[in-house]
Amino acid sequence: MANPELECQTVSHRVAVIGGDGIGPEVVTVALDVVAAAGVELDTTDFHLGGARYLEDGTVLPDEILEELRGFHAILLGAVGNPEVPPGIIERGLLLKARFALDTYINLRPFELDSGQEFLVIRENTEGTYAGEGGFLKKGTPDEVATQGSVNTRKGVERCIRYGFELASSRPRKHLTLVHKTNVLTFSGDLWQRTFNEVAADYPHVETAYNHVDAACIYFVEDPKRYDVIVTDNLFGDILTDLGGAISGGIGRAASANLNPDRTGPSLFEPVHGSAPDITGKGIANPVAAILSAAMMLEFLGEDEAAARIKRACAMASDDGDTATMAAAVIAAL
Ligand code: IPM
Ligand code: MN
Repeated sequence: MANPELECQTVSHRVAVIGGDGIGPEVVTVALDVVAAAGVELDTTDFHLGGARYLEDGTVLPDEILEELRGFHAILLGAVGNPEVPPGIIERGLLLKARFALDTYINLRPFELDSGQEFLVIRENTEGTYAGEGGFLKKGTPDEVATQGSVNTRKGVERCIRYGFELASSRPRKHLTLVHKTNVLTFSGDLWQRTFNEVAADYPHVETAYNHVDAACIYFVEDPKRYDVIVTDNLFGDILTDLGGAISGGIGRAASANLNPDRTGPSLFEPVHGSAPDITGKGIANPVAAILSAAMMLEFLGEDEAAARIKRACAMASDDGDTATMAAAVIAAL
């Protein structure tokens, strides 16, 4: 006889939901409505985390909660950040702590151009300048020194680049561009370029290119269709993907997935945009980025068909109107 508990596990995915701050809860609610409308049953648990929680009790992401999060299949996050909280506390204490602890070493960000062509940025998500190496000497004095290092491990760089080749391999164009700044960052850039060249030998059918990050900014604006898949380091990827949003329907449509491809823990899905305190509570936030992030989550959970339907619906629905109108348009297009 079938074990009812096991059966239950196969039909519903356990998802931790962090609405967060500002417009985060507004857009996440819509994203979950769309997932339900697409016929996928999620077993969700809400977590109260973000700037508001920090202002209440001074905690950001307590270790017990992090351990609890490990028990989920995925995490869906709206946005975190509150203007009353000093910079770095929520970013480092919540977002980066979760990304690092769950070893979500790939930050995948797709962009759809007006022509309908899609390209993807793979951002290394656990190292680089985000690792937090550095410090102060003589802080607050006229002789103050601040350093901020970039940590690049062979293992970290290689697994990211290999993911890039695998992804490029699976796509019709089979094209992968490395973006870095090898002409100035001659240590980390050298490691990235050497590793890229070595891994490329395992994927002879993938065509490769290299762009310096400053040149890539021009190509993003003037000729983005040259790209298929891009792989880059954490900080370059952060900056380039805001630009990616700007050239492809706006940051209101930019989705992202923090993936642990080895599945040793849950992956975390979130829109690229922030908490947007200026429009919070007005009911005008564009929910599409959160909806598309939820679609990426469904894809990662094996719900390919529902994910594809949601993506198509988002492409058809216009960005006109308030949050409720846009949500209704996506659900109607489903
Ligand atoms: C992003 C954000 C974060 C980052 C911040 C909020 C820490 O800008 O997801 O792109 O820099 O990674
Ligand atoms: Mn960013």
